[in-house]
Amino acid sequence: DWTMAAYRAEMIEKIRKQVGKGRVLCGLSGGVDSSVAAVLIHEAIGDQLTCVFVDHGLMRAGEADQVVGLFREHYNIPLVHVDASERFLGELAGVTDPEVKRKTIGRLFIEVFEEEARKIGGAEFLAQGTLYPDVIESVSFSGGPSVTIKSHHNVGGLPERMNMKLVEPLRELFKDEVRALGRELGLTEAFVARHPFPGPGLAIRIPGEITREKLDTLRAADAIYLDEIRKAGLYDKIWQAFAVLLPVRTVGVMGDGRTYDSVCGLRAVTSVDGMTADFFPFDMNFLGRAATRIINEVKGINRVVYDVTSKPPGTIEWE
Ligand code: XMP
Repeated sequence: DWTMAAYRAEMIEKIRKQVGKGRVLCGLSGGVDSSVAAVLIHEAIGDQLTCVFVDHGLMRAGEADQVVGLFREHYNIPLVHVDASERFLGELAGVTDPEVKRKTIGRLFIEVFEEEARKIGGAEFLAQGTLYPDVIESVSFSGGPSVTIKSHHNVGGLPERMNMKLVEPLRELFKDEVRALGRELGLTEAFVARHPFPGPGLAIRIPGEITREKLDTLRAADAIYLDEIRKAGLYDKIWQAFAVLLPVRTVGVMGDGRTYDSVCGLRAVTSVDGMTADFFPFDMNFLGRAATRIINEVKGINRVVYDVTSKPPGTIEWE
């Protein structure tokens, strides 16, 4: 792709100019954005870059291993894997408000990055895979008055005391352009085509308090849902699909016993940039199949509902 080849060359020059001989720390989330940013920056400045993958304990099933594997095996990019799940889940205990969840997670991310920066003898720059829609969504909504719908923690949340300058090479791009750039940089299709995953992870897919047990339940349901989506050949037709664990218990019957378990919400949307979205029109047989498997295979869930809300008026995530 000519445009992306030119963009790649231009950004590499820009990054070199901005960074000089400085050290850059890049937070990897496992998503396409931060991965593309990391590979691009690595191409520009080589081992002046250190990537940090903070496992906050809010990842999906197998996700941490996939990310660490990709970077260590396919790229020769230095990667620090920090298991901070105790710390994140500890601080999130009892937190139920969505914005407090985001702020807590954002603050802990920064603390961990600061610690990692100190360990490598200091870093002047922090790289992030911020996209254009992140920039606009966090400041205004539909051109109206400036209202924060959700404080995406990778935008503008960097406290002064952190004393690091931001490197954000994707700040002008939309998601489809980041994917094109990823292909241009040689990232595998399976990786480039991954659905977006929010920085706060499963924390914003468990309305109410987050516990390890709920996280395990949600991971199991989400993995089954995505497995069914892949088997049906629908993954690439969907912008984002995920399960949500609701803080509601309902009565059911299993064998000859009564159950009183949680409700799992399924979400799938189409979108071009995440700013507006339509619910995905699955056929009912698909939904029935996914629901049956989730209820049969996941302990703690006895009812499944499908979310048919578009954005607006809904948002993609439930929190
Ligand atoms: P919403 O829920 O605002 O989501 O319609 C739009 C897109 O943004 C993602 N999202 C987030 N990403 N930190 C992130 O890095 C966040 O706090 C956050 N909240 C939502 C969401 O997954 C969707 O792709």
